[in-house]
Formats: sequence, C-alpha cells, structure tokens
Amino acid sequence: MDLGIDVSKAGISMEEIKQCSKDIEKVMEKLWSGKEEMTGWVKLPLQIDQEQLGKILDAAIVIQDQCEELIVIGIGGSYLGTRAAVNALVGYDEIYDTGVPADRYPSVKFAGNTMSAVYLDKLLEDIRKKEVCLCIISKSGNTIEPSIAFAVLKEELIKKYGKEKASKRIYAITDANTGVLREEADREGYVSFNVPDDIGGRYSVLTPVGLLPMAAAGIDIRAMLAGAEAMAVSPAWDLDAVNYATARFALLQSGKELEIFEYYEPQLEFFAEWLKQLFGESEGKEGKGLYPDSLRFSSDLHSMGQFLQEGRQIFFETVLNIEKPSRDLIVPESAGDLVAGKSLSQINKAAMEGVISAHSAAGIPVIRIDIPELNAFNFGQMIYFFETTCAITSYLMGVNPFNQPGVEQYKEEMKKKLSQI
Ligand code: PA5
Repeated sequence: MDLGIDVSKAGISMEEIKQCSKDIEKVMEKLWSGKEEMTGWVKLPLQIDQEQLGKILDAAIVIQDQCEELIVIGIGGSYLGTRAAVNALVGYDEIYDTGVPADRYPSVKFAGNTMSAVYLDKLLEDIRKKEVCLCIISKSGNTIEPSIAFAVLKEELIKKYGKEKASKRIYAITDANTGVLREEADREGYVSFNVPDDIGGRYSVLTPVGLLPMAAAGIDIRAMLAGAEAMAVSPAWDLDAVNYATARFALLQSGKELEIFEYYEPQLEFFAEWLKQLFGESEGKEGKGLYPDSLRFSSDLHSMGQFLQEGRQIFFETVLNIEKPSRDLIVPESAGDLVAGKSLSQINKAAMEGVISAHSAAGIPVIRIDIPELNAFNFGQMIYFFETTCAITSYLMGVNPFNQPGVEQYKEEMKKKLSQI
C-alpha cells in the first residue's frame, strides 16, 4: 500500500484499537465471502472483465473524437466518483493539471445533480456552441434529478443534430435489464454499459459508471484499476489500513460525533464530497454513524479554524495530505522574510503540521493519511481503501453499509408534493 496511515495522534491507545479490532476477522470474512448482498466491489479489481474494459476504452476514443465537451448526467454515487477523479486528475476550474493534455480530451461538465434552471440553462448554451456528447448514468433509471436533466439536454441535442445523429452522441450506463433508461437505450440504440447488480451507486466508481467518463476525459483507467488491485491484495489490511477503520469506530465509541476530512490542495474538493457521500449514506442509519464533513485549508482555517481550536469538541480530524503536489512555486523576496525563497509546498506542509500540533495540543484527535502524489494509480488505491474502511466501520457499528432507506423516503415525499403542483 502506498498510502501512509498515522493514527498515533488519534488519542486512542493501540489497546483500544485492538479491542475494537476483535471482530475484524469476521468482518473481513463477511466482505470477502461473496455471500453478502452488494459486495461485488470487493473482488472487482481482481476480476476485471478485459473484454468489457476494451469496449469502454473504445467508446472513450469515439467520445474524444466526437466532442469538445462531455456532459455527465447523474447524482450521488452515479456521479461523485467521476467528479472526484476529474477534479483530482484532470482539472479544477481549468487551473490544475496532472498531465492530461486539455486539447486532446473533451472537458467534462456535470448535470443532473441539481434542479437549478440557471445551471442547466448554461449547459444548453454549451450544446448550441460546442460539439457535445451526453453520458447518462442511473442504476435505477428513474431518479428524478438526472431524468429531468437528461430530458432537457437530449431535446437540445436532437434540435442540433437530429434524432439519429444525437443518439450516436448519447452514452447510457444503467441496469442490465430493468428500468426506463435501459428500455430507452436499447430502443434508441445508444452505446450502453451495465451497472453490475451486486454493486451499489457509491461503491461503483470502478465499474463503467466511473470508468467510461473518466477514460473519455483522458484518465488512465487501467492504472486506476491496478491501484485498486494493489490495495485489495495489500498485506496492510492486517495492519495500518484496518487501524484507521477501527480508530474511527473507537472514536465514535468514545463520544465523537463527527469526522472532518481536511485537505490542503483544492484538487481534493470533490474527493472529499465523495467521502462524505460514501460514509454518510453508508453509516448514517438506525440513529448511528459518524457525521462526515470536510474543510478546505487554509481557506477554512480563517473561518472554521476558530471552532476547531476552541469550540465544542464533538469531532475528530482526518487530514488528507498530498506529499508531492503536481506543481510547485518559489515565493519571491517581496512576500517577506518568513516565506521568501521557500516553496509553496513547503509552506503548505508547515501549515498542515502547525495545525496538527495546535489541534493535538488542544486535545483533538487527528488522523493523517499521506498520499504520495495524485495520479490514477494512487486514486484507485484511495477509492478502494475508503470503500473498504467504510464497509468495515459500518459493520462494526452494526449497520448495513449498502442500503439507503432514508434517501428513498425523501424521494417518495417529493413525488407526493409533485403530484400536488
Ligand atoms: O449510493 C447510492 O446508491 C446513491 O447515491 C445513488 O447512486 C443515487 O441515489 C443515484 O441513483 P441512481 O443511479 O439509481 O440514479
């Protein structure tokens, strides 16, 4: 495993961690047995369907030839993994890059995760001005937000290209057999891929759900799968990796209510969003779970930093540290003696270490996760590592990590309201 996990400042002894790990063998057996529902993602990196991977890569090349902009339509687990990967590995507000040449690949935009007309109308303008493809992703095929966005964007696409040509620019990822999206994809002849039956939305990043749009965006998905495979077989699951999962559980038992993910590179903004969804939707049920939140440093040190240092200690912190950022800069003399001549990565690291010291001194448990650098291989490790951690702690808490009954409830209530408008 290339990730470094440091629980030495988590404020819990190895004895307490060991105490919480006593059920780990049973939990790992449950995950790996293949008998539990929705655990298909556990062995997925070891059982890559090469034929399907080839088809995904072929479709990605066609998308790259067809369009300047790919609009990925989906919500929750059907989009956050892709958004996290694009944010981390391709670009963020066209500022960051880690080696994917922007002129060779379509830019990626996201739709179907908001019902804002302001947002969607902007994307209609994109369709009028640019060469665009749509990738609609919905396992159920009937989630309201992506269904609306797809209908609106598809109509504009048909207006521009005509029905037949528009159909060749629509890619669908959905259930193999059921749902209105599957019916439409088959009827209209969209290139389509399946979401495996035994993998739920937030655990589906390494299935066609994430792989097709990521490959179209120029991300090396073979390297990402190799990273996930390396993590799946890593002997670290006997050691550090499990310590993070059990430390989280021990901290919950000790009365902590929130886990705050902190990052110092904005490239991790949507990875943190993906983490919040993964942990929130997996653990938060039956009155249990750690509430996941995220903060971007150093920006949020100048707002939430006050609460962290001196407010109510209901939380612990998990720092996501990228050891070698993709770019660096030397600060000029005019910035003042303290920082002049130093690199921004050195200064960012000093900030991180300073925050950890200050917060630890105030008694706040801090866990640190070191990521050597942001590349596709390490991203694959990160995805698999956090998915497994989440499943382990959910089982330790006694909840099913793979359902979301609370989300279903809001959908039902919204439908009732809609029928009254
Ligand atoms: O993790 C999950 O299962 C959810 O977040 C779903 O991905 C989300 O609700 C979207 O569902 P669907 O893919 O069916 O549109």
